[in-house]
Amino acid sequence: MDLLVEHIKGLVLAGESPSRIVSGSAMSKLPVIPDAFLLIKDGKVDSFGPMKQKVAHRAEKVIDASGRFVFPSFVDSHTHIIFAGSREEEFVYRIQGFSYAEIAKKGGGILNSAKRLQNTSEEQLFESAQLRLNEVIAMGTGAIEIKSGYGLTTQDELKMLRVARRLKETNPVTIKTTFLGAHAIPTEISRPKYLDKVLNEMIPMVADEGLADYCDVFCEEGFFTTEESLAILEQGKKYGLKPKLHANQLHNSGGVQVGVQCQAISVDHLETIGDDEIDCLLNSDTIPTLLPGAAFFLDMHFPPARKMIDAGLPVALATDYNPGSAPSGNMPLVMSLACAKMKMTPSEAIIAATINGAFALELQHLLGSISPGKLANIFITKPIPSIDYFPYAFGSSLVETTILNGQIFTGQ
Ligand code: NIG
Ligand code: FE
Repeated sequence: MDLLVEHIKGLVLAGESPSRIVSGSAMSKLPVIPDAFLLIKDGKVDSFGPMKQKVAHRAEKVIDASGRFVFPSFVDSHTHIIFAGSREEEFVYRIQGFSYAEIAKKGGGILNSAKRLQNTSEEQLFESAQLRLNEVIAMGTGAIEIKSGYGLTTQDELKMLRVARRLKETNPVTIKTTFLGAHAIPTEISRPKYLDKVLNEMIPMVADEGLADYCDVFCEEGFFTTEESLAILEQGKKYGLKPKLHANQLHNSGGVQVGVQCQAISVDHLETIGDDEIDCLLNSDTIPTLLPGAAFFLDMHFPPARKMIDAGLPVALATDYNPGSAPSGNMPLVMSLACAKMKMTPSEAIIAATINGAFALELQHLLGSISPGKLANIFITKPIPSIDYFPYAFGSSLVETTILNGQIFTGQ
């Protein structure tokens, strides 16, 4: 089916797809075509340009986008959307003064979610994750990464990844999956035994069933050391799972250096990084991915995005949607936080949430910008005065229409 969107107030990030991730000062140059049209054919971007250059074309469907902006869909490159139950009691503990690490030590946190997930069927997990997916699609997300990590037994880690595979097969969004067996050490098994299971049982089985694209580790004091993280990521690599890493969230504990050493696709969080980590990232192809929703919700210091971009680094933004540290998959809110709390400009935040997120999932050839031949995953805003208004009006729902693979999304 052909779909023509016309009289677009501003067509955002349309043009040739960037061949490299957008870094440093280039992040402040957001391309926008005013008074534009966009023609979508067979689910892909066909052509676009100023309205006055539009050639006559009889499309099956025409949308008048007067007063509205068209964006490429968000690419949310870091989530844990498969989980059982919620953890609002821990939210209240934190309000009362307990830290995330203290709650985790007392059996709350990840272990709390693991217990619940182990007692939940694949079907129930699928249904609840599907609802979350519908919610984030309506907020503009068109591609998403999903991690395991609340199973913590071989059988339950596989269960989570099978749910992710089913979501992938039945949804119009593009999904990439990540094995995160090294998210926490379960209490009923010794540390060496669990490490052995991750290395020699889980990774081979996940790879054998083709269930994951990436392998991730929570490299953090009280969770996995730098040596353990390196061993797990190297083993993942041997089995074809590319490395990603939860790094420097709670402590400056060497995660960034581990990620760079094993050529991780991305290192994510980075709340506690300093100049050494920025230098280390500058000499690498590893993408720094920031999750301001988690810093906000845990009331932590935000990652130094401004310093990173000024130093010439690229930055990607993602939600970290999970029941403990970021119970929200709202990419527009993440952009507002990035602007207000990390001093990123709207242009930088939009690039970080779209094309740079696509690089963080190796989807840059398919998604992240409105470029000829890419998937037509886009959204149309409500009427708004300017692009800057989008992150400015934090908490408002400004996405009016979501289009995935050229089809208007009306709910699953
Ligand atoms: O990315 N940091 C580790 N994992 C998640 C939180 C998991 C949880 O608390 O359930 C995160 O913040
Ligand atoms: Fe996470």
